[in-house]
Amino acid sequence: MVGRHGMDSAHLLCLFICLLFTCSASPPNFILLFADDLGFGDLGCFGHPSSLTPNLDRLAAGGLRFTDFYCTSPVCSPSRASLLTGRYQTRSGVYPGVLYPGSIGGLPLNETTIAEVLKPLGYATAAMGKWHLGVGANGRFLPTKQGFDQYLGIPYSHDMGPCHNLTCFPPDVKCFGFCDRGTVTVPLMYNEAIKQQPVDFLDLEKAYSDFATSFIAASAKRKQPFFLYYPSHHTHYPQYAGVGAAGRSLRGPFGDALLELDNTIGNLITALEESGVMNNTLIFFTSDNGPELMRMSRGGNSGPLKCGKGTTYEGGMREPAIAYWPGTIRPGVTHELASTLDILPTIATLAGAKLPQVMLDGFDMTNLLLNQRKSKREAMMFYPTDPSEMYGLFALRLGKYKAHFYTRGASHSGTTPDPDCPLFATLKAHDPPLIFDLEADPSEHYPLSGPDIQPVLEEIEKVKANFEGSMVFGESQISKGTDPNLEPCCNPQCTPKPSCCHC
Ligand SMILES: *[C@@H]1O[C@H](CO)[C@@H](O)[C@H](O)[C@H]1NC(C)=O
Ligand SMILES: *[C@@H]1O[C@H](CO)[C@@H](O)[C@H](O)[C@H]1NC(C)=O
Ligand SMILES: *[C@@H]1O[C@H](CO)[C@@H](O)[C@H](O)[C@H]1NC(C)=O
Repeated sequence: MVGRHGMDSAHLLCLFICLLFTCSASPPNFILLFADDLGFGDLGCFGHPSSLTPNLDRLAAGGLRFTDFYCTSPVCSPSRASLLTGRYQTRSGVYPGVLYPGSIGGLPLNETTIAEVLKPLGYATAAMGKWHLGVGANGRFLPTKQGFDQYLGIPYSHDMGPCHNLTCFPPDVKCFGFCDRGTVTVPLMYNEAIKQQPVDFLDLEKAYSDFATSFIAASAKRKQPFFLYYPSHHTHYPQYAGVGAAGRSLRGPFGDALLELDNTIGNLITALEESGVMNNTLIFFTSDNGPELMRMSRGGNSGPLKCGKGTTYEGGMREPAIAYWPGTIRPGVTHELASTLDILPTIATLAGAKLPQVMLDGFDMTNLLLNQRKSKREAMMFYPTDPSEMYGLFALRLGKYKAHFYTRGASHSGTTPDPDCPLFATLKAHDPPLIFDLEADPSEHYPLSGPDIQPVLEEIEKVKANFEGSMVFGESQISKGTDPNLEPCCNPQCTPKPSCCHC
């Protein structure tokens, strides 16, 4: 509609999207890649000197690379809940910490996931890899109950089982470290059934490549738009890699695992190209939280950022991110503020889908992706692994400034020389908050003080009060505890558990 003042940008954007679809004839496909415990400094295209990530580097060179992209939690399950719902984990109740194989709770079924946003438009939907949003009684929290037509994967972290027989390369070398004892061996599930227990880790990435390739090819052949969500096990501890990657990187076991993930991503790109749908597909890559520094050279790297997994410093929650859509997203680098929360509203706009009628925390990034405009996001909230109404936000970023109200180290971030990162850096309240200029000082080394910073602090306090006023904490799903009978077992009536769950 052309009014007296001409078209506003929303109408222009709408027209642009309509034109885009007229040319491509069908709504776009989406591939969402979510690495595990991968830090800001781990990819070749984000500056790591010895990582080999040729396919991710290719996506970065031909797409939009984000320097200021955040997940919502420094640990797995809450971060995944926010990615799939566009809402902080405090709303959905996926806190504190993470879900376990026998957890009673999970991502509540009345939360609307990206897959459920797309389903009404006729999208084919599939998930593969690490779910980590619950299994529950009779698999009631699995991906097939949250809008995904199909699922192939391990429904939680692959160290949540006695995986001490995991071998690296050559095949008889044991992986370093220990996993969880006293639980069932790690299963591979297809939809709601156990396909293999214990899973064969060394063939797993090949199984994912095959699954994704046939999903992409079949959807493209039917001319059905599709959504593929691949939360990878790589590069979570313990590191492993099959024959195509083991011993082939310069970086040891972590580098091999990352290379294997990169190979799978290469296979997905090939499948898109061979099916003729690459130009109509948005690939988005990011990671769930910062690196697990306690694993030393077998953990990830947060590059110039402070600390890693488990903390609300930048290393815990700022992540590499790449958006790739040849012919539609212009190659470049953006310093705009963006988050995993923004993916649901962006996909909804690009597909022409309705937004869920709930309080969303995400902003539509379409204008940023397609037209290099400013991000609508002005602030990012940092909750610790155990958010509570009593403490509220640990930190808040507004524009280029980040204020810490509380800081705390984490076991996951142990072993670094920085004394603020490990577990023995206990909870510290900061009043006035510690404040950093993240553009001048992305490493959070030099807190600002003095009268110049007063107006910024006042503004941050205002944004914080507004946000916290709007926050209604959902009932904690993880505090519901665990029941060993809920652990997935391929031979449910067998004894003695858990060791008999072996098929
Ligand atoms: C889901 O149900 C719970 C329990 O009834 C409720 O508290 C919550 O607000 C609901 N969430 C949504 C997104 O509707
Ligand atoms: C590990 O290997 C030992 C010896 O081969 C075997 O007895 C045990 O069941 C294996 N454990 C797992 C979890 O596969
Ligand atoms: C895809 O887009 C690229 C870049 O715009 C173009 O060079 C190529 O010909 C397109 N391929 C197809 C199959 O349309």
